[in-house]
Amino acid sequence: MSMIKEGEFVHLIDKKGRRYKLLLKAGSSFSSTHGAILHDDIIGLEDGSVIRSSLRDPILVVRPTLAEYTSKMRKGSQIIYPKDIAAILMLADIFPGAKVLEAGTGSGALTMALLRAVGKDGKVVSYDKRADFQAIAQRNIDTFFGKVETAGSSGELILRDKDVYEGIEEQELDRILLDLSEPWRVLKYVEESLLSGGILLCYNPTVLQIYKLSRRIELKHGKNFRVMGIYEVGLRGWEIKGRSMRPEHKMIAHTGFIFVARKCTPAV
Ligand SMILES: C[S@@+](CC[C@H](N)C(=O)[O-])C[C@H]1O[C@@H](n2cnc3c(N)ncnc32)[C@H](O)[C@@H]1O
Repeated sequence: MSMIKEGEFVHLIDKKGRRYKLLLKAGSSFSSTHGAILHDDIIGLEDGSVIRSSLRDPILVVRPTLAEYTSKMRKGSQIIYPKDIAAILMLADIFPGAKVLEAGTGSGALTMALLRAVGKDGKVVSYDKRADFQAIAQRNIDTFFGKVETAGSSGELILRDKDVYEGIEEQELDRILLDLSEPWRVLKYVEESLLSGGILLCYNPTVLQIYKLSRRIELKHGKNFRVMGIYEVGLRGWEIKGRSMRPEHKMIAHTGFIFVARKCTPAV
């Protein structure tokens, strides 16, 4: 792994796990309760180096992982948590070279994971009806893929300032992922745009939304979709202190349901 350079985006982590984000600029300094840290003292170090602030506190310097980056990036809308994104990539079977449509973009957390998973030969088209959210997402994405060296290769991204309830322009999509409040309103367009065998994945926080989506498929689109499963992801951290090892007191419990259906074609 190469040395940390000027212009890179890094995270600083103190002994209590508090994080600070930093865009490195020669000659600048960063101040916090730990005192001052000179950017020049970080530029040229290895990822994972531990430095000392002016108050002699040990500070870990890392290139953020995608999950770490999304937790500290600027947010317009609520993002999908990394625990759910991890499962979504697998349940939607996002593969290198895939052509994926996503709505809405929000802050771009899922978009970034999709861009990485489809790789340089893939494509992600992302709709959002809020241009201000897309501008935030675009900045987040540019910073991650442009200024974090571990970001890796990314697929082609097309952001569309568009209401997906009015239709989907793209055709022959491998995957469609919806993170918005009324996914059932998109089913008729998904039917036309998703390849047979393709996967529709919807992410929604409430049971009522998932129930309405399932009923709409059953009553109106049953011939063209097969529901593959409805999931919820629980991830519980553990802590170790001396001779005690136990689950953490706090846990991010229910966040959203992941609904997965497969597009099918009645054989003639
Ligand atoms: C919860 S956020 C998505 C968060 C995103 N998945 C992330 O991880 O950062 C929902 C987004 O859907 C957008 N949205 C809602 N209805 C929409 C529609 N009909 N067409 C396009 N975007 C829509 C909202 O503007 C909002 O940005």
